[in-house]
Amino acid sequence: MNPSPSPAAQRATPHDADLVVFGGTGDLSMRKLLPALYHCDRDGRLAPQTRIIALSRGGLTDDDLRGKVDAEVRSAVPEGDDPEVWRRFLARLRHVPVDVRDDGDLHEGWRDLAALLGGNEDRDRIFYLASPPMTFGPFCRQAQQAGLVTPRSRVVLEKPLGRDLASARQINDEVGAIFAESQIYRIDHYLGKETVQNLLVLRFANAFLEPIWNSLWIDHVQISVTETVGTPGRRGYYDQAGALRDMVQNHLLQLLCLVAMEPPARNDRESIRDEKLKVLQSLRPISGSEADRFTVRGQYAEGPGMPGYLDEPDRSPPTDASYRVETFTAIRAEVKNWRWAGVPFYLRTGKRLPSRRSEIVVQFKDVPHSIFPGGSPNRLVLRLQPSEGIDLHIMAKEPGAGEVTLRPVPLGLSFARTFGTRVPDAYERLLMDVMGGNPTLFMRRDEVEAAWRWIDPILATWDSAGTPPEPYPAGSAGPPSAHELLGRSGRAWHEEEPA
Ligand code: BG6
Repeated sequence: MNPSPSPAAQRATPHDADLVVFGGTGDLSMRKLLPALYHCDRDGRLAPQTRIIALSRGGLTDDDLRGKVDAEVRSAVPEGDDPEVWRRFLARLRHVPVDVRDDGDLHEGWRDLAALLGGNEDRDRIFYLASPPMTFGPFCRQAQQAGLVTPRSRVVLEKPLGRDLASARQINDEVGAIFAESQIYRIDHYLGKETVQNLLVLRFANAFLEPIWNSLWIDHVQISVTETVGTPGRRGYYDQAGALRDMVQNHLLQLLCLVAMEPPARNDRESIRDEKLKVLQSLRPISGSEADRFTVRGQYAEGPGMPGYLDEPDRSPPTDASYRVETFTAIRAEVKNWRWAGVPFYLRTGKRLPSRRSEIVVQFKDVPHSIFPGGSPNRLVLRLQPSEGIDLHIMAKEPGAGEVTLRPVPLGLSFARTFGTRVPDAYERLLMDVMGGNPTLFMRRDEVEAAWRWIDPILATWDSAGTPPEPYPAGSAGPPSAHELLGRSGRAWHEEEPA
């Protein structure tokens, strides 16, 4: 039986749109966008005439694309596979081969695309750029040259937005020359995750947390996104990105913002983004010797049954960049403002670690005066994956006569169990938000640039060090320095402590 869509999903009113996906036959499209769109269709959130138009360099026909999606995507949506919806979904798909060479001429495909979209100027038109960032400017210019940019158009930019502040600015300028800021949706799929949304609700729809959400009561915060996967077949991208650009500049910093931001005055598109921006602007810069003390970078080496980063199967052999790139990073960040002064925010992410886990751990301080032996401080754990939920670890007395024995026990909320609905993938929510014209969960230009402004000096210090990252065996808990980063102050990563 299909789990029913959530009431929030049912409330949305769909209207006809053309979703034009550049990179529409690529990995992101096949793994994330199309399964998400299928689920939206199944939940009745795509209007009857909505079309999904994939653009790629390959010379596919509409039927070729449908065959490819049938073969590659259907298996990714098993729990919702309804033959009738699946047929309807496939019928929405179109393919147009385009060439985005940026030499002033309109190349192959653009006229076909214009013919396909023509006469539908009153519909929402969404250009989703699931392609490398250097294509964003050329794509937008050519879309404009082909007369495709209408007042109802929006453009969605996938991360990474550049590789440093300068390149991010250039992309923002180029896209901004064609689309107004209100039409630009910079996606960070972490902001569409259910627990991330719930963090806002937990903080701002409950009264009990706010008085203790500060440096008086909170010892430190940990934000961890650990993955078991490596990077096979991704060397071309990953060598240039590394964990800092791939994960920290966007996903982890966005999570940090939501934990640290001040209560916004309203739940609207600008108020939340204004508050997040202030957090990014308050991050203490890390560079030079501080980068050595407060940051860690590692690269996985061979581990039990797993190759090291340099030996991952790939089309191209390792280059100099491969030897230097980090597949793991840990950082001790600080938000320099009244609320958070002195509270470390530990960020950590890496590939080929022992478990796939994304979580935010808010570690409270110990009781001011303890009358029981064996207590440990309270901890709030927000699980983004797996099994989205929230646990508040409190101290309880073990049942029994005699000595009082304390044990930390979690008061837990599992979204799947409590609400009995399928937890939608982040891309479902975000795609529906783009279609509904709601940019609240997308990054504004100033946010992206403020994040790069903090990241750039760390990158510069790492680059100038000229030393390779610290190796850690694939499948291990990361390089020893990551443990020392917390260990120096008597702290430990969440999973290393007794529960
Ligand atoms: C992407 C990164 O943005 O996020 C990938 O490019 C990473 O390297 C992925 O694996 C993790 O996303 P999730 O939702 O699986 O945690």
